Amino acid sequence: MKLNFDRSDFPEGFAFGTATSSYQIEGHKFGGAGSTHWDDFAATPGNVVKCENGDLACDHYHRWEEDLDLVAAAGFDSYRFSTSWARVMPEGRGQVNAEGLDFYDRLVDGMLARNIKPCATLYHWELPSALADLGGWRNPDIANWFADYTQVVMERIGDRMHSVAPVNEPWCVAWLSHFLGAHAPGLRDIRAASHAMHHVLLAHGKSIQVMRSLGMDNLGAIVNFEYAMPADDSEASKKAASLYESIYNRWYLAGIFKGEYPADVLEGVEKHLPKGWQDDFTTIQAPVDWLGVNYYTRKLLKADPGAPFPAYKEVEGNLPKTAMEWEIYPEGLENLMLWTKENYTGDLPIFITENGMASYDTLENGRVADPARIDYINRHAAALKSAIAKGVPVSGYFIWSLMDNFEWALGYDKRFGLIHVDFDTLKRTPKDSYLAIKAALA
Ligand code: FCB
Repeated sequence: MKLNFDRSDFPEGFAFGTATSSYQIEGHKFGGAGSTHWDDFAATPGNVVKCENGDLACDHYHRWEEDLDLVAAAGFDSYRFSTSWARVMPEGRGQVNAEGLDFYDRLVDGMLARNIKPCATLYHWELPSALADLGGWRNPDIANWFADYTQVVMERIGDRMHSVAPVNEPWCVAWLSHFLGAHAPGLRDIRAASHAMHHVLLAHGKSIQVMRSLGMDNLGAIVNFEYAMPADDSEASKKAASLYESIYNRWYLAGIFKGEYPADVLEGVEKHLPKGWQDDFTTIQAPVDWLGVNYYTRKLLKADPGAPFPAYKEVEGNLPKTAMEWEIYPEGLENLMLWTKENYTGDLPIFITENGMASYDTLENGRVADPARIDYINRHAAALKSAIAKGVPVSGYFIWSLMDNFEWALGYDKRFGLIHVDFDTLKRTPKDSYLAIKAALA
């Protein structure tokens, strides 16, 4: 199976890339990194499938040259990676781990040597344990700690960045991790979630300001979207879907692009927000140069009468699903692109900073056939082409992920990679989807 597009189907300069994150691939036990809340979460039985963790992961810490060779050989223009806070500052504040900074310095030079544009994210979820002890995202000081960490990293590698985003997916940092309890620190607490929802945006804004003061440009924000649909035609289900969309998508866009929070979410969280939240929007609204959107699936919602805020429930849909049990719905991506441009970003470039699927890939006779992934990419690329034709300035598409890796609470079983990783030998084998990308980008 092949990809049914090539570069000529997209505007001049459109960037094709692939993405990873530090904790998911590096091997956190190497190089003097400090403990993170993901290590603590994973060390608590019941949180991560098979109690797996990021100690070794893909051992990218030692195999990064081979990995960058694979990025380059696929023909990608850009590589989205993240820097680990605890690798650079093991206690989250104060002491800097020189080995950690040296690693990112080498990595960035390695990208440039291969003609790959370095696109960094400063926080992809592994909060240093020492900061979690102080309340983590619940503590307003986190914005200043994050600003200091931004300064330390970017004083070293900022001169060579193509683009930078402070935080990956603020919804996951706040709601998934502090309200749903599915990710570290595993809290299920509306007040903790509300504090995190605000502080994550404040930290984003301060980090942008630090990078501007260092003279950097091409700075953005990366959010994740789900396309919310009512499970049926009732008014109650429509309201549930709209509230889901507000909590998931609107909160972060409204904060950054309008300096306000959506009224339907404030109804439930305002009393839990940190005092003086209204005064922080000047920082939160620090201008960005682009928006990054991570998109995987849609959700069907209906009301859950009698339950406390947000009083909705997810309903299982019947579209084909990925190995994550996520429905495949490329139309949602196109609709969200149009909606975002119309309501929030106007002419600002939008990058799809993650899109991809987990499948039950197996290595047989040196080959991994993953036609479902090729089809998924085809259909989402078509959705982007259609959005572009309707005037949305989509400027790049990054596939999650370069290689199979530590899929958080689901451990190593969920294979998202274009490259298969054998977690016993750590051998990398390009899947058919990788070869299809290589042919399409040639
Ligand atoms: C995104 C995360 C990424 C990976 C994919 C599947 O939400 O940013 O680390 O887990 O989902």
